[in-house]
Amino acid sequence: MGKTAGALALLGFWMLVAGLGESFSMDSTDSLYIVQVDHNTLTSSVGYLEMTTSRYSQMLQSVRRKDSNDVPTAHLVHVYHNIFHGFSARLTFQEAEALKNMDGVLGVYPDTVRHLHTTHTPEFLGLSSTEGLWPESNFGDDVIVGVLDSGVWPEGESFSDKGLGPVPSRWKGSCQSGPDFNVSLCNNKIIGARYFSAGYEAATGPMNDTIESRSPRDTEGHGTHTASTAAGSPVEKASLNELAEGTARGMASKARIAVYKICWERGCYDSDIAAAFDQAVADGVDVISLSVGGGVVPYYQDSIAIGAFGAMKKGIFVSCSAGNSGPGRMTVSNIAPWVVTVAASTLDRKFPAGVELGNNQTISGVSLYRGSASDEEFTGLVYGGDVASTNVTYGSQCLEGSLDPSLVKGKIVLCDRGGNGRVAKGAVVMGAGGFGMILTNTPVDGEGLLADSHILPATLVGATGGATIKSYIKSSNSPVAKFKFGGTQLDVKPAPVVASFSSRGPNSLTPKVLKPDITGPGVNILAAWTGRVGPSGLAFDNRRVKFNIISGTSMSCPHISGLGALLRGAHPTWSPSAIKSAIMTTATVLDNKNSILTDEATTTEATPFHFGSGHVQPERALKPGLVYDMSPQDYVNFLCAVGYSPKRIQIFTNEPVTCPRTAVRVEDMNYPSFSAVLKHSSSTPTLTTNFTRTVTNVGFANSTYSASIISPDDITVTVKPEQLTFSAEGEKQSFTLVVSATSNPISTVVGASETKFAFLVWTDGSHVVQSPIAITVE
Ligand SMILES: *[C@@H]1O[C@H](CO)[C@@H](O)[C@H](O)[C@H]1NC(C)=O
Ligand SMILES: *[C@@H]1O[C@H](CO)[C@@H](O)[C@H](O)[C@H]1NC(C)=O
Ligand SMILES: *[C@@H]1O[C@H](CO)[C@@H](O)[C@H](O)[C@H]1NC(C)=O
Ligand SMILES: *[C@@H]1O[C@H](CO)[C@@H](O)[C@H](O)[C@H]1NC(C)=O
Ligand SMILES: *[C@@H]1O[C@H](CO)[C@@H](O)[C@H](O)[C@H]1NC(C)=O
Ligand SMILES: *[C@@H]1O[C@H](CO)[C@@H](O)[C@H](O)[C@H]1NC(C)=O
Repeated sequence: MGKTAGALALLGFWMLVAGLGESFSMDSTDSLYIVQVDHNTLTSSVGYLEMTTSRYSQMLQSVRRKDSNDVPTAHLVHVYHNIFHGFSARLTFQEAEALKNMDGVLGVYPDTVRHLHTTHTPEFLGLSSTEGLWPESNFGDDVIVGVLDSGVWPEGESFSDKGLGPVPSRWKGSCQSGPDFNVSLCNNKIIGARYFSAGYEAATGPMNDTIESRSPRDTEGHGTHTASTAAGSPVEKASLNELAEGTARGMASKARIAVYKICWERGCYDSDIAAAFDQAVADGVDVISLSVGGGVVPYYQDSIAIGAFGAMKKGIFVSCSAGNSGPGRMTVSNIAPWVVTVAASTLDRKFPAGVELGNNQTISGVSLYRGSASDEEFTGLVYGGDVASTNVTYGSQCLEGSLDPSLVKGKIVLCDRGGNGRVAKGAVVMGAGGFGMILTNTPVDGEGLLADSHILPATLVGATGGATIKSYIKSSNSPVAKFKFGGTQLDVKPAPVVASFSSRGPNSLTPKVLKPDITGPGVNILAAWTGRVGPSGLAFDNRRVKFNIISGTSMSCPHISGLGALLRGAHPTWSPSAIKSAIMTTATVLDNKNSILTDEATTTEATPFHFGSGHVQPERALKPGLVYDMSPQDYVNFLCAVGYSPKRIQIFTNEPVTCPRTAVRVEDMNYPSFSAVLKHSSSTPTLTTNFTRTVTNVGFANSTYSASIISPDDITVTVKPEQLTFSAEGEKQSFTLVVSATSNPISTVVGASETKFAFLVWTDGSHVVQSPIAITVE
């Protein structure tokens, strides 16, 4: 199937070129849809490619309005072939409905737009660590990491192939040319580079070639950053203006990178994401890294979930960002059980930039602005809300045009977060003649701080510090302040801390699957950057940097992808689920003060709804002892358990399936973590549920593991048997975990629920295999 697959995905590109001619219609009544077809209903003696394409055109023709003289083939935006069979096309609502009812059609759903998972805007900045988490080993050579993102800036030193052997012979991918990209830019590090814009342009109209590049080239920065984080070559003396200086290297510094550009100025479209998955599977990647997401939709309408299923089936490890919608609960996205859902936490490095007030009070803050001596002298201080030219609300947030220059000139302006970008506020202050800016969190943002690459002397302080500054301004006749830029600070404690912005559980789609899965470094990460935009990513920012510091679950995801590549290199026979299990069961829930990880938003203890199984520990993941392994059929059983029909499940499997005769339960999916959901009942004093699991021995051939449980007083967790004895590597043993909780009414509020957390730990004295257990009574 490999060859036709390659040809077919190219079809998407050629169709696009054809579609840009006069037949390209942006009729406001139609929009882009993805159509999934049961391929087994298509039979033909002609070649596969001609058969599917002409069959899909016929299907389109048959639902077209009779007065339409469009050429239907011009409207096949992408044809899909590996992860599922089908196509995308612009359809009216009526045409989509007609297709839905056609024989052999499994599903028709509207294309949706996703966004890069950098927190709020691409202006997020931060710091990276070259120690602790990044292993010194050379694991990852010959492993291929597919990065689905905004493309790559191939000239970056992180993409040098110095010291790397030839491209792995099994590689079937290639490098696509464009206006400013060609095959000469690929090497033994970047071994593939393609772009997918047909869905994007069909949905939003032709791209603006002045600011975008119809090629794998990254004009945004995000894709360059994530690719270099996962698998960048080592670069010595990397820094952003001397901040975070050190050797920058990807997690798997010898792994090869295959670039799939799916994100553009106006977002990342599902139809293109599906096409990229389709191509990556055909090309032969080993790992897929995807720092993109949107809202949660049912698995069968989610092209990331569907694409990741097809990849998992081919043995590909898929790691996705959890999202930056925290600190609210139930915000986690990319939650299919066959992907690793990655939360974000801090490193033990920070960029302090405090503020000293005229009354001798000092407020701590963070910034990536490189201060000079003249920035550190007392200067007049005003609050944006007090110096507004028109609207006080706008002034307090320092929105465009809201500040009165005569009141701002030469002053430091205090601005509230919200309404516009953090770095953009600095531009407003600068435009009004201000000298510097103190940005403050509001109570909604709490105390979580993000260091930014400001264009004038500026820092960000927490909500409490901001309130202190406001009352100082009110109480003083001539308020003044000065900055104290502190460079790079190391050994910050506590660390890691779960980032405020990191999306949280519980899982909104399948509460019985605990999400997120893991947390990793995602705050202030230094990695390679594009030469096309400045570090803030804003149009007016004319600075150019080779490395940038940004934050988001977008940054933590490629750390886990790179680790997946290392584990694939170390254990070539492990399934994606075994690799995921190894990463999860060896994670730690403790920080560098030996306390439970804290939540940055509240500075109280975080839970598995924040960090999943805990913070990743790469070196321990190499030797997990036991793994909770799963086959593609186990995931099919999961889809049966959530109530999907075999026809619906075929959307994922691309082939007919049967559900087990006896009903399967989500509780029995061999997941490396546990989530009990118990229904409160006034007639049942004790609520009970159970889980079955099977562990595979990947540690010492002869070993005995004993179970221990850590649980709150009012929860009882038992394991049967309490000991598992193995006499061979690869041997499997099963156990049952029973959870009992008192059926207390949590609250009289309808829909209220309370979750408590326990842990199961298996150990043979050498390995520790730990799983979180969420127990929710609702
Ligand atoms: C390929 O692109 C590079 C960089 O843009 C350029 O220097 C080179 O001339 C191009 N080569 C070809 C064959 O177009
Ligand atoms: C493309 O972007 C440039 C730069 O922002 C802008 O000046 C130009 O008007 C845009 N062109 C179109 C067709 O939108
Ligand atoms: C601030 O501290 C300095 C030196 O410690 C002292 O001279 C000054 O009086 C203090 N000012 C206030 C307002 O407390
Ligand atoms: C400021 O503008 C916003 C948005 O138009 C409006 O909601 C608000 O009422 C205005 N506030 C004042 C004080 O005019
Ligand atoms: C587990 O729970 C199921 C469903 O409630 C029940 O049928 C089964 O007997 C239980 N198994 C054990 C070992 O408790
Ligand atoms: C494991 O134990 C069995 C039986 O005691 C023995 O035959 C075998 O050699 C042992 N294997 C290893 C690797 O020690």
